[in-house]
Amino acid sequence: MIVAFDIYGTLLDVASLTRALSPYTDRPSEFLTLWRAKQLEYAFMYAAMGKYEPFSSITRRALMYTARRMGVTLTGNEADMLVEAWTMLEPYPDVEALGAIREHRLVALTNGDRDMVDRTLGRTGVGRYLDGAYTSDMAGTFKPSPRIYRLVEEGSLLVSSNPWDIAGAHHAGLRTCYLDRHGLPMEELDVRPTMVVRSLYELHDALRTLTRGSAP
Ligand code: 2OP
Repeated sequence: MIVAFDIYGTLLDVASLTRALSPYTDRPSEFLTLWRAKQLEYAFMYAAMGKYEPFSSITRRALMYTARRMGVTLTGNEADMLVEAWTMLEPYPDVEALGAIREHRLVALTNGDRDMVDRTLGRTGVGRYLDGAYTSDMAGTFKPSPRIYRLVEEGSLLVSSNPWDIAGAHHAGLRTCYLDRHGLPMEELDVRPTMVVRSLYELHDALRTLTRGSAP
């Protein structure tokens, strides 16, 4: 079976960006929350408008919006460096558990674009656990458009800590595993994940149960 992972927020800790933001604002967590929310909102808007541009550009637009809204001045170089910091996020410690899951094909399925994702997987070391990456440029759109989830074959499982991502994958006909890292409830969109785990250490056993259950 293909087990596809969301990257940002699922394998990599977005909160680790707080440190990179500290020199520019005395409210780095608030800044980051708004930046992340805008980044996703712009991706969703582009998907709805039928427009595409690399996720790194969307991330930069969201950064500039957040800076303006919070009264922070950034030079072009500073903005470039902060966008680049997305390729150096800290992996969650339980990512090492993927090393024990050998019987499945593990891939990334992400809104990131190829350049950004290649650098991210290389720099964070997470790439060593994955057999490949499906990126937004391959679909010309962003999750939660069904087009990007359909890059992986039917019956694949999407693992994500982002409830909106679980909703999108479910809608596109994938099986889903909600990695409940932050205690966030599922979206009120008639979505029931195929399974729920609290850490990647639980994924191994959960996959066993799932594949046993679906065996003929
Ligand atoms: C992803 O990795 C943006 O978290 C989202 O696709």
